[in-house]
Amino acid sequence: MSIVITGANGKLGSLIINELLQIISADQIVACVRNPDKAEVFVKQGIEVRLCDYDQPESLGQAFAGASKLLIISSSNQDDTIRFRQHAHVIEAAKKAKVGHLLFTSFAFLGAGDIAPSHLYLATEHAIQTTGIPYTFLRNSLYTDFVGVLGLEAALATGELRIYPGEWKFNTVTRHDLAQGIAVVLSQPGHENKTYELTAPRSWTFDDLKTALYELSGKSVHVRQDPQIQNWIYGFLSKIDTSSTSTDLEKLIGGPVTSLKESLKQMMAI
Ligand SMILES: NC(=O)c1ccc[n+]([C@@H]2O[C@H](COP(=O)([O-])OP(=O)(O)OC[C@H]3O[C@@H](n4cnc5c(N)ncnc54)[C@H](OP(=O)(O)O)[C@@H]3O)[C@@H](O)[C@H]2O)c1
Repeated sequence: MSIVITGANGKLGSLIINELLQIISADQIVACVRNPDKAEVFVKQGIEVRLCDYDQPESLGQAFAGASKLLIISSSNQDDTIRFRQHAHVIEAAKKAKVGHLLFTSFAFLGAGDIAPSHLYLATEHAIQTTGIPYTFLRNSLYTDFVGVLGLEAALATGELRIYPGEWKFNTVTRHDLAQGIAVVLSQPGHENKTYELTAPRSWTFDDLKTALYELSGKSVHVRQDPQIQNWIYGFLSKIDTSSTSTDLEKLIGGPVTSLKESLKQMMAI
């Protein structure tokens, strides 16, 4: 068995490899990276490193050779048209390399695809299905660390967290939880042609955030709705489904996902 992972130098990719190393041996893993010079850690762990640049289709055939499973980590390019072209390069190369099973880190609860991020993820899922290769769609929720752009340190200092008005609910999980679930899928049989919604089983609200911050820091934060707030994240949040929940991830990891409070504790110096 050879499990090939693209975007391996990224935050999610490296966490997945760490999780995989606890389940399978290093010689069953191939780390595909855009910049091999930054992949020294994998070499030291006995993991084969291969060049894989989504913008260089000629690099991909060699990268995917012999893969029984290929995990495609979605590109981090900001332009969805470019991202789709990059994903298409990967999918075409996977088909030519006769990869046994294609897995893709998609996005949770894409709905009917009538919102911007859904077009890219659904288009990629459909493109994967055109290959006829068994697939698994790992639809990741928003990462919990999105809270890092909400200004929580400042809120603790001033006692006020300004948010854009709305009935916000969040199904987020940590990259670490996602990595654990994805490693399980990669290392086990029986996940072919399945779609997993990898979210928390219960959503949290800004009131829950306020409570968690209080329990961790002893400081009260007033949450104030402010339509004038200037923060790009609310534009993005309003385009995605952050409230639907699923037990798929907890079933895969065989236990509870990391709580909001624990996630905040790991993220912030409080
Ligand atoms: N669910 C969420 O909340 C959320 C949030 C942010 C992003 N995402 C998506 O999830 C993916 C993984 O997240 P992450 O936290 O691991 O992101 P990340 O740390 O930015 O990692 C992205 C990886 O993709 C690689 N990459 C980018 N362009 C590439 C190309 N042209 N060819 C080959 N590799 C390329 C990067 O390579 P280098 O190391 O060389 O830069 C990096 O290793 C992201 O790429 C993005 O599509 C999801």
